[in-house]
Amino acid sequence: MLNNLPDPKIIFKEVKENNFVIYENVFNHEILKEIKLFWIDYFAKKDKFKSNDLYGATRSIGDDNYNSFRNEKQVVMYRRSEFPWNKPINDTTKNLIFELNKIRNLALGLNENHGLLFNNDLEVFFSQINNYPSMEGKMFPHRDTKKKEILLSCMFNITFKNIDFEEGGLYLLINDQKIDIDELMSPCSVIFYNGNLIHGVDRIVSKSGIGRIAGYPMKQYFMSKSLLPNYLKKIIGIDNAIRRKFNFKSAIKQGNSAFDNTKINE
Ligand SMILES: [Fe+2]
Repeated sequence: MLNNLPDPKIIFKEVKENNFVIYENVFNHEILKEIKLFWIDYFAKKDKFKSNDLYGATRSIGDDNYNSFRNEKQVVMYRRSEFPWNKPINDTTKNLIFELNKIRNLALGLNENHGLLFNNDLEVFFSQINNYPSMEGKMFPHRDTKKKEILLSCMFNITFKNIDFEEGGLYLLINDQKIDIDELMSPCSVIFYNGNLIHGVDRIVSKSGIGRIAGYPMKQYFMSKSLLPNYLKKIIGIDNAIRRKFNFKSAIKQGNSAFDNTKINE
């Protein structure tokens, strides 16, 4: 399913040396055509997005796939999250994200199925599709974790700057310089980047009204379903929000094994 990618070790080397690397024509245009039609249609119906648990603070093994959204001053975004134990809503998208996760695992020196097989760590691979709607979609500048190591993240665009939207989009801040990533992402390209660099999404302006849609292979620590009652889940979620606000250390393990283990110079 994937073409034009080098040895995964080279991908990691590129991110380590240059902060990000983009590969073109990684999957074929028929695949893009199918998933683009599917997700444009899916995100056109905003009434399907009811939960505001965008960050998934209390994700547990066995959770249902779900839709979430935030419409706040700093972030306007709609998100579909799908877990490997559930049936995907679009098989082609799931397969593409599944294959990219394998490449990222190999780039990090992990078993290619890491996150797919259950382990005591409860670290799980899952798929995420984000939509930043036209005229309002945006995300404040942030790092994905508070750690210093490289966090090898991966993404592909489903809609494109200069085709589906004209202004705004994903940027990375590298040495105080803003890099307009969406300007560099051609159809069927994939970016690997350090998610611990400051990044954000400038407000999307789209004459077609489609906005920005992108897919991500994710990995995160989950909680055991065990007997955790819902009211406790709510409290953990609130606690997590307070900790984030005041920059306190998270109660739940942060990040994932996409971290480089070799310490970078601080
Ligand atoms: Fe992020």
